[in-house]
Amino acid sequence: MKVFSGWRRLVFGLPLIFLLTHLFSVMELNKNSKLGEPHKQPNKKFDHLVLGPAAGQGLSNRLQCQGTKALNRTHSSNSRSGADGSITFVTVFAIYNSSLNVGDEKSSSTVFGDASYNKVGRSMALLNVFINFIQVTMPQSKVIILTDPVSDLPVRRNRVSLYPIQGEYSRDKLMLQRIRSYITFLESKLQELSWKPRNITHYIFTDSDIAVVDDLEQIFHDHPNFHLALTFRNNKAQPLNSGFIAVRGTPDAILRAKLFLQEVLKVYSSKYRNASRMLGDQLALAWVVKSKPHFDVSRFAKGLAFSEDIDGSSILFLPCALYNWTPPEGAGQFHGMPLDVKVVHFKGSRKRLMLESWNFYSSSLDISDMLCLILGSGRTKYDF
Ligand SMILES: *[C@@H]1O[C@H](CO)[C@@H](O)[C@H](O)[C@H]1NC(C)=O
Ligand SMILES: *[C@@H]1O[C@H](CO)[C@@H](O)[C@H](O)[C@H]1NC(C)=O
Ligand SMILES: *[C@@H]1O[C@H](CO)[C@@H](O)[C@H](O)[C@H]1NC(C)=O
Ligand SMILES: *[C@@H]1O[C@H](CO)[C@@H](O)[C@H](O)[C@H]1NC(C)=O
Repeated sequence: MKVFSGWRRLVFGLPLIFLLTHLFSVMELNKNSKLGEPHKQPNKKFDHLVLGPAAGQGLSNRLQCQGTKALNRTHSSNSRSGADGSITFVTVFAIYNSSLNVGDEKSSSTVFGDASYNKVGRSMALLNVFINFIQVTMPQSKVIILTDPVSDLPVRRNRVSLYPIQGEYSRDKLMLQRIRSYITFLESKLQELSWKPRNITHYIFTDSDIAVVDDLEQIFHDHPNFHLALTFRNNKAQPLNSGFIAVRGTPDAILRAKLFLQEVLKVYSSKYRNASRMLGDQLALAWVVKSKPHFDVSRFAKGLAFSEDIDGSSILFLPCALYNWTPPEGAGQFHGMPLDVKVVHFKGSRKRLMLESWNFYSSSLDISDMLCLILGSGRTKYDF
């Protein structure tokens, strides 16, 4: 895709309403000039929205788009009468001290719309959009942010609470700390349930760079027997993503989930400690699952949900294609977006697209159209 950078920078500084009208003309330009896809410039990171062609054209089970207009209705707009009230999202969020250093290149400001963000501001903006999407698609649910007791997060939102847990939240230990925090949280819930029986609350532990685009209550409803659910993809080295873990709210399931995560933590600490910055938790998850002799790894290639018993825990494996959707990085094959996608993950350099998606949704109020924006832009690398 050719870059009209000067012109676009100008457009970018204008209020959103102008940006949206101009978007369509940008798409027209792309269609007419038939230039390549954005990911063919692997090192370039964009400071403005870039739309390429939507993958999956002509596939009947994939979203079809005309620019940012969806030709299929992916989600019914009437929500399921507050059934989601029994779900709480849990995420780990920390602000790093180093991010406060001035002069550091990474802490320099980034412009989005007519606002300018430093590094902390960028993280907070993403956290707020994460919460916004949950409050739109599952308005009865709650959000709990597990955080460092020393950080004073400026989060004041309805149905959102902070839950401080002592630990090591430095960047290179964060993935390890995250599992520890999940375990501590589950232990506390188990204790609460033991002295004060209450209505069941299910927990969904997620990264905070995701958009929940449909009600997830049906996971617990359609699959009544699992203790915890993980998302899988067809990837030999990293078949499991740690960014989405659902735990049923019964005492038995919470206990099983806690024991399973303790096993993952043990493997992480003993085998993958050196990978702790990024991938250690995913490698440890995969090791715990694949090391069971009866486990059939070929099911990761099939893309259908399945259940398996691992050390007494009943684990539901859900396809990333629906519950943790992200376009493949680089030049990997890409078959578009399933019509019933539930969760979009803005991994890596897609954070600006997460904010753009929210802005687009706030003005269009149309999830399907927004999914077309994400589908057309999901392989672009952004600077945010
Ligand atoms: C999605 O929309 C396209 C274009 O209108 C149509 O051909 C296709 O049948 C639709 N798919 C489904 C599953 O409704
Ligand atoms: C960050 O700063 C606080 C207070 O200044 C300090 O207590 C804490 O140990 C620091 N954390 C890291 C990870 O350096
Ligand atoms: C538990 O659920 C019932 C039925 O949905 C409801 O009437 C009741 O108020 C709930 N109790 C609590 C403590 O939330
Ligand atoms: C981690 O890396 C260090 C130095 O590279 C090495 O000595 C150590 O054995 C590694 N530990 C593990 C658990 O692989």
